[in-house]
Amino acid sequence: MMKKIKHIASQEDAIKLLNIALEHEWAVSFEYTIHAYSMPKGKFFYEDPLMKHRTDIRAQTIQIGIDEMYHALQLGIIITQMGGTPSFKTDEVMRYPKIMDNLKRDKMTEDMVTDLYQSAEFREGTFPKIQNMVLNISYDEVRHSQQFEAMMEALRETGNEDALCYQPDPKNKNKEEVQLLHEITHLENELMHRYLKYVLMFSEHQDLSQRLFKNSIDHMRHWDKNSGILIKMGDVIQIENAKKDETGAEKSAAAMPFLYPGEDRLSALKILIPAEKSLIAKYEKLITLVPDGEIKDQLELHLALNKEHVFTQEWLLKNAQKIKGLE
Ligand SMILES: [Fe+2]
Ligand SMILES: [Fe+2]
Ligand SMILES: [Fe+2]
Repeated sequence: MMKKIKHIASQEDAIKLLNIALEHEWAVSFEYTIHAYSMPKGKFFYEDPLMKHRTDIRAQTIQIGIDEMYHALQLGIIITQMGGTPSFKTDEVMRYPKIMDNLKRDKMTEDMVTDLYQSAEFREGTFPKIQNMVLNISYDEVRHSQQFEAMMEALRETGNEDALCYQPDPKNKNKEEVQLLHEITHLENELMHRYLKYVLMFSEHQDLSQRLFKNSIDHMRHWDKNSGILIKMGDVIQIENAKKDETGAEKSAAAMPFLYPGEDRLSALKILIPAEKSLIAKYEKLITLVPDGEIKDQLELHLALNKEHVFTQEWLLKNAQKIKGLE
């Protein structure tokens, strides 16, 4: 269960609240995406309660995951500006065998975080902009909760309550290309969050942080696309460090790394280059293992963008080294 803090009086209390929220936002940002990439595309639809539009449950769940990523970013920037350290720990991430059970959990976590945001009591006159931000985020969560509720309703109405998530084909354990793609997908996730750490670190240096943010988004897209490729290979995106219980439910308390190297400008910029290069080497290897076609084309696109990242990062580093007094 989520930690809680109710009374906010000091700067320290405020940072604590924001970090509790951040650990939640990290977790749901990929928990929802993982739930989405565990179900079929264009098969289950719901009527969106606000848009009054028939919408693919899977596509909308991914969209909600992206909203959560932006919440994490907003929280991380404010924590940094207040002199705090944004946490990269995450709340627990789970996946059940049934699509319905995942949606139930998604709605439950939305209601839980709405309560965290809305029940925080700030001492009068303290942190007005943070109070406002917390309320603004909380109404995104209210909307998400209504969407998940409508999705569950639609599954019940269409007799799909027991529809199952994709399960990995056991034969894939021995397929080098599938295992390598899992490894690459973990690395994409790691790099995406690592870039985000530096985006937060350099948030006052806007041009630099936006360049790093662009690369982070590319890695997020690759992670997302790779999850789709895994399905085409008869597999499914893994939850990092997850354990499966006897009912088939998977649970992880560390679904992404919570420590990333680089404590100042030069060390952060330097360390990204070998990380990108090692990812490139893995893509090059993988590309030799898959036949010509759609999957290979997609992987080549990821490889190409990662090569561009190396160019960008090498110049960001060299340019930073040229300027005296740049800390
Ligand atoms: Fe959120
Ligand atoms: Fe949400
Ligand atoms: Fe990259």
